[in-house]
Amino acid sequence: MKNEHFEFVSDVPVSFGQNRAAELGSLVSQEGCSHPVIITDPALEEMSVIAPVCQALEESSIEYSIYTNVEPNPKAQDVDAGAERAVEEGWDGIVAVGGGSTIDTAKGIAIVATNAGSITDYQRKSGSYPTLSSDPLPLFAVPTTVGTGSEVTTGALVTDVDAGEKIVVGAQSFAPTRAVLDPCLLETLPPDIIASTGMDSFTQAVESYIALDANPFTEALALEAIRIISKNIRPAVSGTNLEALGDMQIATTLGGVAFNVSGLGLVHGISHQVSAMYDTPHGITNAVLLPHVLKFNQIAAPEKYARMAKVIGLPVADLTSRQAAARFLDEVDRLVADLGIPDGLNELGVEMEALPKIAGMVMETGSTNVREYSEDDVIEILESSF
Ligand SMILES: [Fe+2]
Repeated sequence: MKNEHFEFVSDVPVSFGQNRAAELGSLVSQEGCSHPVIITDPALEEMSVIAPVCQALEESSIEYSIYTNVEPNPKAQDVDAGAERAVEEGWDGIVAVGGGSTIDTAKGIAIVATNAGSITDYQRKSGSYPTLSSDPLPLFAVPTTVGTGSEVTTGALVTDVDAGEKIVVGAQSFAPTRAVLDPCLLETLPPDIIASTGMDSFTQAVESYIALDANPFTEALALEAIRIISKNIRPAVSGTNLEALGDMQIATTLGGVAFNVSGLGLVHGISHQVSAMYDTPHGITNAVLLPHVLKFNQIAAPEKYARMAKVIGLPVADLTSRQAAARFLDEVDRLVADLGIPDGLNELGVEMEALPKIAGMVMETGSTNVREYSEDDVIEILESSF
């Protein structure tokens, strides 16, 4: 019976508001860190997006390092190299300022720096993470995009280059120490990144809402995230709009809390392996796959599709669930088109002959997708996404 047993835990404190980054000095001090590192990517350092964070640490007389060896789709060996640096330089805390790749890199470094081995030793297996022998470094997650959720989740995604796949890593009872959401840090975010990360956020919320392991707590959060994103994503993309960007930030974190418990679905399942093979941007890959996976899943959750249609404000009161679900799918198509998302995986450089290999990799990973699927189903979804 549905809802017979479930757990809901969310243990990351969240601070939201304009200029909240200014509080990082006292937050870092309270955690007892005297030589933290700011982990970010080179572009954010160059554009001075991290300046308010530097200023906050300086005002609290905290000496800090800056580490920018962060790339999209982070690789395990880069995480291990960062952990080595952490030990060499004696970093005792991390402020991760960036998107999902930055926060995931920081999570990996936080674990490996105080524990032995490589980040690949901390892979989630059968739904469980390894237990750590030492506490990871305190980690403050400061997202600068509108699509990761990593600031409130326990896991991180890294590419295991030797195995040629993306793996989920983390540790038991590990999540960021605090998430600081400051819309002012999003002021210079380019529209195409708002569109791609915003679509990641939308995909996460939708996949969480319909996931097999969703429960009433996660459904409430995910549904609200879907509502907020559908209302704000176009205004956020169309020009600097701190209010819309702030709402997108809130929705992304709401979705993160939800999917951390419910899990995601086949969009992410396929997208992770496509990105592992072709290094494609996460949000765009999701956005290309989303309409096709939603069509595949529709039969398994028509009532939930109808509810999503209602929540995003479509006039579906007089329609049957199936008709309302169809309207939701049309609206997703419209959203993807409005945001200028590429038409197919071929535009991202994916080759048709790679599809069986990608499908095989997808089948090796677990999933909480609402509809059961076979390798042939995955290949069909991939073909329809060309
Ligand atoms: Fe995602």
